[in-house]
Amino acid sequence: MRTQVAIIGAGPAGLLLSHLLGEQGIDSILIESRTQEYVLSRIRAGILEHSTVQLLDEHGLGERLHREGHEHRGIYLQWPEERHHIDFRDLVDRSVWVYGQTEVTKDLVAAREKAGQQIYYDVSGTALHDVESDDPYVTFTDASGNAMRIDADVIAGCDGSFGPSRAAMPDAVRNTWERVYPYSWLGVLADVAPSTDELIYAWHQDGFAMHSMRSSTVSRLYLQVPNGTDIDTWSDDRIWDALATRLGHGQNGWTLNPGPITEKSVLPMRSYVQTPMRHGNLFLAGDAAHIVPPTGAKGLNLAVADVALLAPALAQMLRGKGTESADTYSDTALRRVWRCTHFSWWMTTMLHTGDNPFDTQLQLSQLKWVASSEAGAMGLAENYAGLPIGF
Ligand code: FAD
Ligand code: DHB
Repeated sequence: MRTQVAIIGAGPAGLLLSHLLGEQGIDSILIESRTQEYVLSRIRAGILEHSTVQLLDEHGLGERLHREGHEHRGIYLQWPEERHHIDFRDLVDRSVWVYGQTEVTKDLVAAREKAGQQIYYDVSGTALHDVESDDPYVTFTDASGNAMRIDADVIAGCDGSFGPSRAAMPDAVRNTWERVYPYSWLGVLADVAPSTDELIYAWHQDGFAMHSMRSSTVSRLYLQVPNGTDIDTWSDDRIWDALATRLGHGQNGWTLNPGPITEKSVLPMRSYVQTPMRHGNLFLAGDAAHIVPPTGAKGLNLAVADVALLAPALAQMLRGKGTESADTYSDTALRRVWRCTHFSWWMTTMLHTGDNPFDTQLQLSQLKWVASSEAGAMGLAENYAGLPIGF
């Protein structure tokens, strides 16, 4: 098979890239190691920043988001006995939307199916070849066991943190930066109306807790737990008790409503950046190039921002209209990647507790400053609601 862009990975980055390229008349073929059912049901991020929503709207992908999603003006930041609203609308005139990554993926898959996009699901043995040449190609085994080959002008590595693309860059050219955090998140999905109108990020001496949501009837909640936590040691009752304590049930008249838990899992947390994001005719986008801890709600939004730069750059290059944007893609994308890497680290270290009493005092001092100073709150608001795509 031959195509202009071979895209590895049908997560948000790969699907959106094929959509934006398709609009520009550029052909692509997507390959994905999971089944379509798996891709459409996995539960991940929940918050779309301002420019992500704008981009989805501009490309005909925002209809259901506006119908079923919920716009939030800001977030609550809290520590024991104190809850403060950080109002992004007032501070930076931007908002965020609660609309799960699962829903974004469904909308993208529907749009690609309508456009007749070729997607191979359930593939194995994906390998990248000759990425430094003008004739790169990808090999894989399809769901029926046939050996396949895609010849392309360009390969887009959108295969997340476990895919083969990032390692297809030779060791001599790639640099990596990493921080592993000494805690994880226990995340639950519960069939109960949210007990809050907007997300609550809570510092507590027992550990961080967060109250998010997916709809008016489904809540999404997280608890800081030690690395290596066995999910079986957390019964539903233990989870709700810890959430009640850390989120301040009973304080200032606020109550947390428990309900049936339908999904629970433990997520490790790390920061990771690999540079450059382009080598020869291989371009990386999304989690294939960078991972952030989830506290700043940036992972999905960063993937979208990469692709928003990459699609027009590839279209320009493949039409023979110049390689300028493709040549600057890595440097341009990395400006935002490092900004979000810093913001995610900053939110994470401000809110997760450890055993160092000095750090505890610094965290509380920082929280009080952010909540009481317009300059402090504005910094959080600008980063959380998201910088413009071209930042
Ligand atoms: P992915 O969504 O990972 O997509 C990559 C795709 O490539 C996958 O479908 C994968 O199956 C496929 N693939 C992998 N290897 C191969 C191969 N060899 N061949 C073909 N295909 C391959 N972010 C937040 O902001 N908030 C959250 O709450 C949050 N929760 C998360 C929970 C989990 C468990 C994970 C893993 C991530 C979470 N994230 C969260 C991060 C966010 O979901 C990611 O940043 C986002 O999915 C990035 O999109 P992507 O398309 O770059 O990568
Ligand atoms: C969600 C996840 C996040 O990491 C975050 O910062 C906000 C919301 C969520 O899953 O809803």
